[in-house]
Amino acid sequence: PKNLRHGEFVGSLDCGTTSTRFMIFDRYANIVASHQIEFPQYYPEPRQDWHEHDSDQIIESCDACIDQACAELEKLGWTKESVKAIGITNQRETAVVWSRKTGKPLARAIVWDDARTRDIVAHHEKKLREEGIEHEGEVKKGDDAVAALRKLTGLPLSTYFSALKVRWMLDHREEVRKAHDEDDLLFGTVESWIVYRLTGGLKGGVHITDVSNASRTLLMNINTLRFDPILLKFFGFKESILPKVASSSEVYGHIAHGALKGTPIAGLAGDQQAALIGNKCLNPGEAKCTYGTGAFLLFCTGHEAVSSQHGLLTTVAYQNGPGGKPVYCLEGAIGVAGSAVKWLRDSMCMVTSASEVNTLAAKVPNTAGLYFVTAFSGLFAPYWDTTATGMIIGMTSYTTPAHVARATLEANAYMTRAVLDSMKSDTGIALKELKVDGGMTNGDMVMSILADLGGADVVRPEMRESTALGSALLAGSAIRLFGWDISDPETLREVNTAGSQTFKPTMSQEERDKKWRGWQRAVERSRGWTEI
Ligand code: G3P
Repeated sequence: PKNLRHGEFVGSLDCGTTSTRFMIFDRYANIVASHQIEFPQYYPEPRQDWHEHDSDQIIESCDACIDQACAELEKLGWTKESVKAIGITNQRETAVVWSRKTGKPLARAIVWDDARTRDIVAHHEKKLREEGIEHEGEVKKGDDAVAALRKLTGLPLSTYFSALKVRWMLDHREEVRKAHDEDDLLFGTVESWIVYRLTGGLKGGVHITDVSNASRTLLMNINTLRFDPILLKFFGFKESILPKVASSSEVYGHIAHGALKGTPIAGLAGDQQAALIGNKCLNPGEAKCTYGTGAFLLFCTGHEAVSSQHGLLTTVAYQNGPGGKPVYCLEGAIGVAGSAVKWLRDSMCMVTSASEVNTLAAKVPNTAGLYFVTAFSGLFAPYWDTTATGMIIGMTSYTTPAHVARATLEANAYMTRAVLDSMKSDTGIALKELKVDGGMTNGDMVMSILADLGGADVVRPEMRESTALGSALLAGSAIRLFGWDISDPETLREVNTAGSQTFKPTMSQEERDKKWRGWQRAVERSRGWTEI
């Protein structure tokens, strides 16, 4: 085929919250072949914000995506063997548990935005303050204990992180508790589960995780890059359940079945960290925001783990090979972005497709005073309030679905502004340009609203598959395919040279500030509502 420029490729398996994709890239980041499958979402107790995945269905979607994309590659005249390595990237924090003996899941996976663990969070917060936690050779209590946990893990106690989800399973699922007691329980985030199964499951499967995913469990010390016995004791887990922590770019094992049997798995990273790499934001001060199910703004801080005083997370971006110096970032994690649009489509039936929300919102020049706090799983960064719920306020008999659609897009922009403000307070840097990607950024209306309410230029690259590309770069880099080395951006200069489009703010500062004050009042109203 004339349009393909090289006979060596790298694959990327991207297992997100709602779908799995496998993409095959050439050395310039052209997508040569790809396949995507949506997998079922389970909301068994909707009134309690439960959200689950069937871990076997995740694997089925991975196998099918790899096989279909490879079939497409062969149709184009290339052999499957020209895929030299694959990387895996994934929805983070989601907790998977399975049996060491049978290799089978012991419960459904609890998804990152599931908020069932509110009470467990409250219990551990009390325990942390009263019993304290050991840090730097001393037992810290009260506020000092809260600060110590943040120093150790980079994270606050929240329903968001895996440890609380595993604790819930141990407390409520007999099979899981029994397996834990009998040393039969294995835990992993989604990449860990996929690697275990792709490399052979019971017949020699590798039980590993990478530093970027491990940094979202609340169990890893982000300075030593090891699971910390103090944290294991605090949550009451045995060490035997944990995967081995590996770097983000090395050969972990080989695929044991399917179209790519024998191909090395050579890159692992949480999807947001992968998107940072795919955007080539590899130097301190570079940042991106990905608008998928949620929205995640990551700001690279280089080898320094910067502690946030303003509600951001300190997280590991990646580690280039075993022994490599970790690269850190500050992250503003917004729990709800595209999932609010999905809600308008599937639950409210206001639109028939996600993109239609843009046309609906464009029917009105403003929200006519309507605010929609999309706190479906409580409020994430920078608020961290598990007691908040979703709330629409400011309705009159004049309110139409167009106002609600617009308020949904505005909520996305306000949440981003809140994170940008925190980022500025923590780093002293006001981002003049916000680099964005993810499914939600395809709509021009979303982009204009973001520029207006965020008060920054919004830069949307033409090539927006940065998550998949990031994991491909990690895998390619591990085997020095195409001469790539993620520690040396110069080696990536030929990768993705496509242009971008900039959306500039047009709203006056006065108008922006007025609307921002309205948002802050609305947020205050949404707090504490779970107690009612
Ligand atoms: O932390 C959750 C995040 O990894 C989910 O990403 O792309 O499925 O919204 P996404």
